[in-house]
Amino acid sequence: MIYLDNAATSFPKPEAVYKAMDRFAREDLANPGRAGHKMALAAERALDDCRHRLNQLFKGSSPERFVFTLNCTDALNMAFKGLLNEGDHVITTDLEHNSVSRPLRIMELAGKISLSRIHANSHGFIDPQQIKDAIGPKTRLVALTHASNVLGTVQPIAEVGGICRQSDIIFLVDGAQTAGVVPIDIHSQKIDLLACPGHKCLFGPTGTGFLYTGERVNLRCWREGGTGGDSSTETQPKEMPYHLEGGTPNVLGIAGLAAGIAWVEHEGISNLHQKESKLVAKLRNSLKEIPGVTIFGSDDLTRTVSTVSFKSDALAAPEIGSILDEAFNIAVRPGLHCSPYIHKSINTFPDGAVRISPGAFNTESDIDQIISALKEILSI
Ligand code: ALA
Repeated sequence: MIYLDNAATSFPKPEAVYKAMDRFAREDLANPGRAGHKMALAAERALDDCRHRLNQLFKGSSPERFVFTLNCTDALNMAFKGLLNEGDHVITTDLEHNSVSRPLRIMELAGKISLSRIHANSHGFIDPQQIKDAIGPKTRLVALTHASNVLGTVQPIAEVGGICRQSDIIFLVDGAQTAGVVPIDIHSQKIDLLACPGHKCLFGPTGTGFLYTGERVNLRCWREGGTGGDSSTETQPKEMPYHLEGGTPNVLGIAGLAAGIAWVEHEGISNLHQKESKLVAKLRNSLKEIPGVTIFGSDDLTRTVSTVSFKSDALAAPEIGSILDEAFNIAVRPGLHCSPYIHKSINTFPDGAVRISPGAFNTESDIDQIISALKEILSI
C-alpha cells in the first residue's frame, strides 16, 4: 500500500522504533516505580529517558512537567478539565480538531464557560490581532492548534504566546500536526500547556502522547490512582508528574516513543520538514493540473506542514478515498477529519475533502502514483 495518511498517524515507523519496542518487551517490561527490582528500575528509566528527551526537544522547564497520556485527545481533556472554572472565558479558533472543540463546547453548553471562536482567513491562518481583540476580563485560556489537520497551515504561536503572557492568560497549544516536524519552543513561545500525540511526527506507537504543564498552571487531576512511589497518602500526591499519572503507564509505547524522538533528533526537524515540503510542492503543483480540483490551504510551504486537502467537481471526497483504497491501494483520509468548523468555512461541509498527507518515508514516486490514479479516477 502507498500510505499517504501520516496526518492521522505516521507509518511506517523508523526501524529503531520497532527494535526498541521488541527489545523492551522481551527484557524490561515491568511496572515502573512499583518495586525496587532491576526490571522495575529499568522500566522507570525508560520513562525518565523519554521525559528528558521531550524536555530537551521542546525546551520545557523540567522533564517532570511532561505527563504521559494515551494520545493528544487525552492530554487536551486533562488540560481543559483540570484548568477551567465556572465563569471562565476561552478563546479558540475554527481550525481546531474536535479534541479541542468538543470538550470546550460541552462546557459552554453546560453553562460553565463562555467561548469565542476566531475565524481563520481564506488561506487558513489566524491573525494574532484577532486573539487580542477577543480578550475580555474573564478570559482564562487561549487554545490554538499549531497547524490545521485539514489545511496544514502553521499558526503564529509565538505572537499569540506573547499576547497571552502580557494579559496573564494561559496559552495552550495543540501540537498534534507539528511536534517533530516544526520546531516548538515552550520557553520562547510562552506556552503554558502543550498537548501532543506520540504517534504522529514523533514516530512512537499509537497509545502514546503527552501534556506539558508549565509553572503557571496547576491542574486538578481527573484520574486518581496508584503512582508507585508514595502509597501512604489518602489522595493523589501533588508531585508532578505523578499528580496526573495515576495507573500503570504505557511504558512499552513510551520506550518506542523515546526511540522515535531519538530518530527525529538524528534526522533533524528542519531536514524532515524540507523533505516533506518538496513532496507537498510536487503534490500541490500536480493537483492544480487536474480540471475541477480545488486545493485548500496555502502555497507558502514555509508555513505549512505536509497536509494537502482538495475537492473535485467530478466526485465526492468519500468516493475518491474508497476508489484510491480499493482500486489503487493508496491510503488517504477523506471526510471532515474531525474538524467540522474549518470545513464549514471552506464550504466542504458535510462531504468534506480528500486529505493527502505524505510523511518521512514517502517518495516522489508515491506522489506520481497518486496523481496518475487521480487523473484516471477523475477521467482526465
Ligand atoms: N487527528 C487525526 C487526523 O487528523 C486522527 O486524522
